[in-house]
Amino acid sequence: MADGTLVAGGTVPSTRALAAAFGVSRTTVTAVYEQLAAEGFIVTAAGRVARVASQLALAAPPKPGRRAPPQTPLSAYGRRVENMVLPALSSGQPLQLDFLYGAVAARDFPALPWRRAHQAALLQHQQRLYYGPPEGDVALRRALQGYLARARGLLCNAEQIVIVHGSQQAIDLCARVLLDPEDAFAFEDPGYLMARRCFEATGARLLPVPVDDLGLDTTQLPEHRAVRLVYTTPSHQFPLGAMLPIGRRQELLRWAARRQAWIIEDDYDGEFRYGQRPIDALHAIDTQGRVLYIGTFSTALSPQLRLG
Ligand SMILES: Cc1ncc(COP(=O)(O)O)c(C=O)c1O
Repeated sequence: MADGTLVAGGTVPSTRALAAAFGVSRTTVTAVYEQLAAEGFIVTAAGRVARVASQLALAAPPKPGRRAPPQTPLSAYGRRVENMVLPALSSGQPLQLDFLYGAVAARDFPALPWRRAHQAALLQHQQRLYYGPPEGDVALRRALQGYLARARGLLCNAEQIVIVHGSQQAIDLCARVLLDPEDAFAFEDPGYLMARRCFEATGARLLPVPVDDLGLDTTQLPEHRAVRLVYTTPSHQFPLGAMLPIGRRQELLRWAARRQAWIIEDDYDGEFRYGQRPIDALHAIDTQGRVLYIGTFSTALSPQLRLG
């Protein structure tokens, strides 16, 4: 039918003839014809020869090999994303000298407790196999509320927490809901490229803010009237590593209040400190509700979880 050997309205071979031609049982051919009839390719009726459906207009069979994608134009957002240069992914091959950052020591992953917890959850909470709240599992959000208070000094309700597929999705959501193409955003320079790309994809204007050995230089935050947000990594500036001191934190909060802007706090590895207690998140000293805090399980457990 696809290559035109059998034409619309024409007869198809009898089950007996086809079974003999292919050396298979008639039952097999009958099952195939029933399936073709159910899908509308052929029409069968008791005591009548089967025919190819009369309205059948099959496209020419696809040619082997890759086909060019259809030339339908992308949206403005799609075109911006299409033209972005993103960092190459690691090949996964072990290297002699590997400077890849953010890798987790596989042998430190609590594989056994993880498996036990997973199994227990599956057995005890069958209802979790059904749709849950879009903002994430209630029990997980409650557990995170406690964890964030203990580990990061951050006080919030479980209802304020949204579970996402890692920081990347949280940053992307912030970009989409907070920025329009005519807006501007302040961003650490140098900073985390994967976050910058999310904000750039909205079409908003990038306003780079220099970073020095104390982190984001808050004296250089833009007073531009279109600025809607600043993205920052105060616990451990990415990529230079500084921890933003309290004076600059306060200045940053004053700037956000003055400009009515959001502060996107990316706390990707805030839990990690050698030999000293990690300092509290910026969110912990925000009295105006201007800080949107982003945390991830990628650094403490595994990026494969895609959980933040
Ligand atoms: C600055 C920064 N933010 C966030 C992340 C983690 O991203 P995700 O949670 O999407 O895995 C990383 C990981 O390398 C990072 O360097």
